[in-house]
Amino acid sequence: MKTIIAGNFKANLTRKQVMAYTQGLEKFLESQCADSIQNHKLQVNIFPSHTALLGNTFAYFHIGTQNGYFATSGGFTGEIGLLQLQEFGINRILIGHSERRNLLGEDSECIAKKFRFYAEAGFEIYYCIGEDLHTRQKGEGALKDFLHTQLANIDVSYSKLIVAYEPIWAIGTGVSASMEQIEQTHSILAQMTQDPLLYGGSVNADNAGEILKIPNVNGVLVGSASLEVDSFAKIIQVAL
Ligand code: 13P
Repeated sequence: MKTIIAGNFKANLTRKQVMAYTQGLEKFLESQCADSIQNHKLQVNIFPSHTALLGNTFAYFHIGTQNGYFATSGGFTGEIGLLQLQEFGINRILIGHSERRNLLGEDSECIAKKFRFYAEAGFEIYYCIGEDLHTRQKGEGALKDFLHTQLANIDVSYSKLIVAYEPIWAIGTGVSASMEQIEQTHSILAQMTQDPLLYGGSVNADNAGEILKIPNVNGVLVGSASLEVDSFAKIIQVAL
């Protein structure tokens, strides 16, 4: 299975910065990773904010969207619709990120609607799941139930689905889950779905190599450490 390295820029980087970033990333991938990408061993994606979406026309990486409303267009203030994403050739989306669930109040019904809509549109869907600290502290049974409920909300047999496990307590904290915790959780997830599984939560160039060696880890979803092209490139390099 190929390794997927994805960068979620969240509400960071301006359009101008993303334009410079993409030039640097394309150059790096062309010189260092062309074979792996052409042989489908490696896939690189970035998810900039909506104001910084660029045409999805790069040779060595894909541009996806951090969000999309479950409509082609219409009266949905502050949202972005399918037609607007299609204008950029975007066909990848993050759905269910904990920041959207918790800060923006997206509930399981809204997430399920987004999933169905973008699956119908043929998007590659990066479905984010992950428990809070309280659930983790309750033990393995509670963790399993929690992850099972999040997966039960969507069709895990969708062929273009990638599941990103991002424990909430490891996001943006600088402290990733331990290798044992990642191994344990990914093994639980591998019993629930056959989809590629990414880990996310304080991934950086120093821990990515070890994380990518864990069984049932098929890639990483990177936040802060993807914001500078050099740092993101180092993570990609360890995946080679
Ligand atoms: P950090 O890598 O900054 O912890 O963010 C992870 C994340 O939320 C990616 O979607």
